[in-house]
Amino acid sequence: MSLQFISHSKKQFSGEITVAGDKSISHRAVMLAAIAEGTSTIEHFLNGYDCLATLKAFQQMGVKVNFTSATTLVIQGVGKHGLKPPEETINCGNSGTSIRLISGLLAGQKFNSELTGDASLQKRPMRRILQPLRRMGANISAKEDNYPPLQIHKVANLQAIDYRLPVASAQVKSALLLAGLYANGETVIHEPKPTRDHTELMLESFAVDLHKQGDKIALIGENQTLKATEIYVPGDISSAAFFIVATLITSGSELVIKNVGINPTRTGIIKILRLMGAHIDISNQRHFNRELVADLLIKSSELHGVEIPRELIPAAIDEFPIIFVAAANAQGTTRLQGADELRVKESDRIAAMAQGLRTNGIQLEETSDGITIQGGELTGGEVNSYHDHRIAMAFSIAGLIAKTPIVINDCDNVATSFPNFITLAKQLSLPIEEKKL
Ligand code: S3P
Repeated sequence: MSLQFISHSKKQFSGEITVAGDKSISHRAVMLAAIAEGTSTIEHFLNGYDCLATLKAFQQMGVKVNFTSATTLVIQGVGKHGLKPPEETINCGNSGTSIRLISGLLAGQKFNSELTGDASLQKRPMRRILQPLRRMGANISAKEDNYPPLQIHKVANLQAIDYRLPVASAQVKSALLLAGLYANGETVIHEPKPTRDHTELMLESFAVDLHKQGDKIALIGENQTLKATEIYVPGDISSAAFFIVATLITSGSELVIKNVGINPTRTGIIKILRLMGAHIDISNQRHFNRELVADLLIKSSELHGVEIPRELIPAAIDEFPIIFVAAANAQGTTRLQGADELRVKESDRIAAMAQGLRTNGIQLEETSDGITIQGGELTGGEVNSYHDHRIAMAFSIAGLIAKTPIVINDCDNVATSFPNFITLAKQLSLPIEEKKL
C-alpha cells in the first residue's frame, strides 16, 4: 500500500498551531538518556518513524522505555557501559541521524553490532564517519566501504583524535562526540562552518563537560558519566517551515506557530525567507533546557528572488525543498550554489525538486551543487516524492498555489519526521487530501 497526497488551491487561511517535536533533538535525547545514570523523562518527543527507530535500537540493547503519553517517554538509563549486545541487526529505517550517531556511540563498545536501513539509507554515504572513527581505532566494515549495512566489531579501546571535518555535517560531528565519550584523551573537532549544535547542548543537559571555542569543540570523555534529566523538546523548525511558506505564499493568510526551536544553527530558513521579503515576527523567546524557543507570527508576503548566501546553507540544509517552492512563487530569480550535500539526503533533493517543479511549468536550471529558479505560476500535475518526506510536504504546500491540483506519490515517509502533518493541515483547513493506494 502506498500513500498519495492531492493538494488543491487555497486562497487564505489563519490560525495558531504547534508543530511536532524536533527530530534532531528527539534522537539525541533518547541516545543520551539511554546511557545516562538514572531515569530521564522526554516530553514532546517526536514519535515519527526516524526517532522510533533510534528508540528501538536502544530497546534492543536492553534499555527500558515507557511511553506515559503519545509524546512523553520515560527512559531507564543503563549507564555508559550498561548497553547489552543487540541480538539482531539494528534497523535504522530511513534515518541518517540514527545510523551515523548510533555508529559513533557503538564504535567503542565491548560488543559487536550491525546497523542497516531502508533502500534509501543503504545508498547514503557512510565513509564520512568511517574514516574518522577508524582513526580513533574503531573497527567498522561497510558495503563497498561506504554504505550500510555497517558491521561494528568490538575493540579494546578508542583513542581521541583532533579532527577537521571535511564537510559541514552535524551527523559526523555528533558521531565523533559520542565516540569521544568512550575514548582515551581529548577529542577535538573543528567545523568548516557551524552546524546544528544539539548534541553539544544535549550533552551539557546530561551534565557532560565540553569546551567550545570558535570553530572547535573538545571533550574528554572517558571519565565522564551522564546524569539523567528531564527534557522538553521544542517544536521542529524544519516542520514549521512548511506552514511558514504556506502562509507566505497564500494571499491574505496569517499564522502563529508556538514553541518553535530557534537555535541559531537552525534558523537559516527564517533568514533566507526574510531576504526574500517574508514577514516573520519572532516573540516570546525563552529556553527549553538549553535550546532557544520562540513563537512565530507569519503573514502572507510578496516574495522576490534572491541569491542565497552560502554561509546560510548549513543552518537551512533540510529546508531547501520548501525554499524552492517559495522561490517558484517569488518575483524574479533565486539562485543557490554550494549545496552539493542536498544530493545525498533522503533523496537527491536538487533532482527531485527540479523534476517536480518542471512538471509544474517552472523554469529552472539545475547545477551539480545547486539550482536557479525563475519565479512563475505553478500549473499543477503529478510529481514523484522519491519516498522523501520533505519533497512530499514541499509539493503538498506548492499545490495550494497551483492552477490545478498537485498529486504527490509515495508520501508514506512523511511520518518519518512529521506524523501529524495532514492533521495540522486539516486544522488550518488546507485542502490536502490523503489517498491510500
Ligand atoms: C541532522 C543533520 C543534518 C540534517 C539531518 C539531521 C542531525 O545532516 O540534514 O536531517 O540531526 O544531526 P548532515 O549532518 O548530513 O548535514
